[in-house]
Amino acid sequence: MKHLVDLDDFSLEEVESILNKAIYIKSNMSKFSNAMSKKIIATLFYEPSTRTQMSFQTAMIKLGGQVIGFDNPTNSSIAKGEDLKDTIKIISEYADIIAIRHNLEGAARAAACFSSCPVINAGDGGHLHPTQTLTDLLTIKETKSSFSNLTFGFCGDLKHGRTVHSLVKMLLRYKNNKFIFISTDQLKIPDYIKKIIIASKNQFEESCSLENSIDKLDILYMTRIQKERFKFEKTAFSAQKNFFKLKKNTLKKAKSDMLILHPLPRVDEIDFEVDSDPRAAYFRQAANGVFARMALITHVLSAPNVENFPTVTINKCCCNDRCVTNFEKYLPKRFIKNKESYFCHYCSQKLNI
Ligand code: NCD
Repeated sequence: MKHLVDLDDFSLEEVESILNKAIYIKSNMSKFSNAMSKKIIATLFYEPSTRTQMSFQTAMIKLGGQVIGFDNPTNSSIAKGEDLKDTIKIISEYADIIAIRHNLEGAARAAACFSSCPVINAGDGGHLHPTQTLTDLLTIKETKSSFSNLTFGFCGDLKHGRTVHSLVKMLLRYKNNKFIFISTDQLKIPDYIKKIIIASKNQFEESCSLENSIDKLDILYMTRIQKERFKFEKTAFSAQKNFFKLKKNTLKKAKSDMLILHPLPRVDEIDFEVDSDPRAAYFRQAANGVFARMALITHVLSAPNVENFPTVTINKCCCNDRCVTNFEKYLPKRFIKNKESYFCHYCSQKLNI
């Protein structure tokens, strides 16, 4: 089965063919209006969502298919204590494809283990959000000539921002990109992402000032502080609020063709007056979510079967306290071996041994 849990599951050619298809779909919608007729998508949203959930649903409806699912697990048997495995086993018999958003890291990979239909990760805790990355790439592709030789500034909550983690990992597959991570000390990009950047020989720097970094950027990716993730934290949410705000004034120093992206929702990190700046692309980015997901659904539902990941089972618990394996205890303790290190198959955390 072809799942999309992490964009690393797809070859570069596949990602590019999805983006090209999305561009084609955008100007040829009527040609796709029956492409998925009689197909059903189940949107299983254990966490709140506006754009991701509705763009998956819109995408399937525009492809001629149907939608089932829930947007609040307390209205499903999960409230009665049903585990993820049983929920997925059943729903994958009803639907042709599942889009799942979950608060736990690795939950989408766990769901894929028990599903009889393709599973798409619509965000797993603070881990990854690959379909947002497709949307981001599509928006960049419409404006910039390539995904290489660019300087990206990521600003805000880089610790919990799954959209940032997915996009950075994907951009490392292109040549000569540079990353400037702008955050407070408490909300820095995770070490595992820094290690991947170092291993790929790309450059990155960390900064605590948007004003001092903005003139170097080709793309500025703003993010909100992820309030809902702070229950696992020692740092208080209130101490992290209002550090970074993009204002019209700050933009004076930026390149005239810098692209401003934001996965949305915006809370207060971009001033409303920026919306009318021609560089602000975040509303177009959100609209592109439908085309990217239409292209993805058609790709996944027509793709041939692929091999499972080579993993090893070790009798050790993942040290990430947000990992799905620490909540859904029946999950096999699977790890991916890379040189002498082991990484959790579900949430990517390095195992301490
Ligand atoms: C993002 C998410 O859910 O990770 N939103 C989205 O999917 N468009 C970003 C966020 O919630 O801050």
